[in-house]
Amino acid sequence: MVDSSKTPDNNLINNLVRKDVLNMVPYQSARREQSGGSCWLNANEAGNSNDLSVNLQNLNRYPDFQPQQLISAYADYAGVDNSQVLATRGADEGIEVLIRTFCESNAGTSDSIIICPPTYGMYAISAKGHAANIITVPLTKDLQLNLDGLSENKDNAKIVFICSPNNPTGDVINRDDIISTLELFKDSALVVVDEAYIEFCPELSTVALLNDYPNLVILRTLSKAFALAGLRCGFTLASNKIIEMMAKIIAPYPISNPVSAIACQALTTDLAVMQQRVDSTNQLNQHIASFLDAQPWLVKQFSSKTNYILFQADNAQQIFAALVEQGVLIRNQSSQLGLNNCLRVSIGSIEELELFKSAINNFNRNSNRYSVINNQEVRP
Ligand SMILES: Cc1ncc(COP(=O)(O)O)c(C=O)c1O
Repeated sequence: MVDSSKTPDNNLINNLVRKDVLNMVPYQSARREQSGGSCWLNANEAGNSNDLSVNLQNLNRYPDFQPQQLISAYADYAGVDNSQVLATRGADEGIEVLIRTFCESNAGTSDSIIICPPTYGMYAISAKGHAANIITVPLTKDLQLNLDGLSENKDNAKIVFICSPNNPTGDVINRDDIISTLELFKDSALVVVDEAYIEFCPELSTVALLNDYPNLVILRTLSKAFALAGLRCGFTLASNKIIEMMAKIIAPYPISNPVSAIACQALTTDLAVMQQRVDSTNQLNQHIASFLDAQPWLVKQFSSKTNYILFQADNAQQIFAALVEQGVLIRNQSSQLGLNNCLRVSIGSIEELELFKSAINNFNRNSNRYSVINNQEVRP
């Protein structure tokens, strides 16, 4: 056991580490932010696990850099060419590799990315980790792109991140606005459309635009509709030139053999299982939307095309704390730009959502507030 009193003075590390990293606040992932609880509805994962098996032979060998079977399986699934696919450790690694590949990070002259908050937090964190600059062009009041704001920054950035459907708000970004953005930046920047949740509304994917726009990059993942968040497997779709450049920067063996085998199974023989999960998640989404609509404290519910719903309450912190006390973890999004008093609940399993509903009912009972259906108070 190391005697911690003899470990070197932290001053050494404080002096060695990049100054911006010393002061950086890390991404508050659901697992980092909250531990414990028995009902996890805070990370937009599927509620039930997959029933998959894997051969654990040959672990003495390094895997292929980009396992061809996996690349073909995803290319077939997404309707693109093999040369347009890069497999990564989750979509998160795609974000990071894009920034490391395309943004210079030199003191004082770093390149910039554009983010459109409220949105997924990892674009900013990955940029900070690479000492790239961040230009913020907030979404409009109706949670769409601010095209004037983007236009003002036409020549200032290397990458524009658009999340569609957007996390945490849940709705898609208008396709015409994505096309306008691709046109706007066609000679100056990559436009990255993060489609982590696209399986819940596949008809709204931008994948068909890849042929027309060489500056389009699409991020995908197996963490959501495929119920494989623990596997860490995602994909970047883009022109073969972009993929070739990213392949120079990504780690030499990002996808382990077991990950590749499980992902291949999910993308071929088990595709129908994913489709059933999406159908039942979409139904449960409507069920939870009706439940939330009846809540006496509800200020607003955001339209959702995903496996989560964002809602605004008149007392978000109290609801959040009451749920944590009952072991039900959801996500408080109140610190995000424009999302004061907003909470996000993931559409987990039927059992998890029943726990969520009864925890809310308990909270209502304890605070003497009751559901309102057709203008009538309903006492459980
Ligand atoms: C919009 C968005 N993009 C990317 C990710 C990261 O996905 P992965 O688990 O594939 O790294 C998430 C995870 O919550 C997300 O919400």
